[in-house]
Amino acid sequence: MSETLLKINNVTKVFGTHVVLKDIDLDIVKGEVVCIIGPSGSGKSTLLRCINFIAPPDQGEIIFEGKTWKRFHSRFNIFANRKYEGELPRLRSEIGMVFQHFNVFPHMTAVENVMLGLTKVRKEGRAKAREIAEQSLIQVGLGDKLNQYPEKLSGGQKQRVAIARALALNPKVMLFDEVTSSLDPELVSGILDEIRRLAKDGMTMVIVTHEMNFAFQVANRIVFMDEGRIVTMGTPDEIRNTTDPRARAFLSSILG
Ligand SMILES: Nc1ncnc2c1ncn2[C@@H]1O[C@H](COP(=O)(O)OP(=O)(O)O)[C@@H](O)[C@H]1O
Ligand SMILES: [Mg+2]
Repeated sequence: MSETLLKINNVTKVFGTHVVLKDIDLDIVKGEVVCIIGPSGSGKSTLLRCINFIAPPDQGEIIFEGKTWKRFHSRFNIFANRKYEGELPRLRSEIGMVFQHFNVFPHMTAVENVMLGLTKVRKEGRAKAREIAEQSLIQVGLGDKLNQYPEKLSGGQKQRVAIARALALNPKVMLFDEVTSSLDPELVSGILDEIRRLAKDGMTMVIVTHEMNFAFQVANRIVFMDEGRIVTMGTPDEIRNTTDPRARAFLSSILG
């Protein structure tokens, strides 16, 4: 566990006059599970969105597999080089992301939802895409729901479709943004088990979560953010015993 897979260097993100991320530096090692915690509005989601350029950072860069991604300020484009921009869908398939509100398409079956990235981004033929999509859905326990439409699925099952959709593209990193926050309580543990299974298989993951017990269990490192900065980070034990006053206040507000 020492090869750096992803480097976040000096990332700053501004919305209007609001500096939402300030000089974020974080290295993610291959096979590592990093959990990000912190109060609402501290910039956790924005950081994940910067990592795969859904929200391109205003300053700083992301280095992924030796390639540097940064925003160039040209007049018409976020990238000075058009060709670079054309590679973004590929970057986003290699850095898979799952959101709180699963964003599955209601007019497509489970398998069609998962096939989409395979045909559009990976340019797989439909037969091959279907085969991969089915495998991916079987992997997350939805082998019996392949041809269901989302309205017939529970929140937990829709979230599994979203996870399968990201996994089908064979990502090198997975980003999870509070993926259990909108689920009914009885469905939370199943999704957390799915993430644990990925961790066991060696998937590199960055996980934003409020499930502190889960974070303490699954994380190699926990990052505490507040007001757009990384305030402190460390192993679960280090964070449990942190002396940082803001981190302590946050943890006691959650853990009681
Ligand atoms: N697209 C956006 N436009 C303007 N402000 C935004 C946008 N996205 C996030 N913000 C602001 O950035 C701050 C951090 O948001 P976010 O990254 O969602 O925090 P967290 O995920 O930690 O709750 C918040 O103040 C939020 O209102
Ligand atoms: Mg968020």
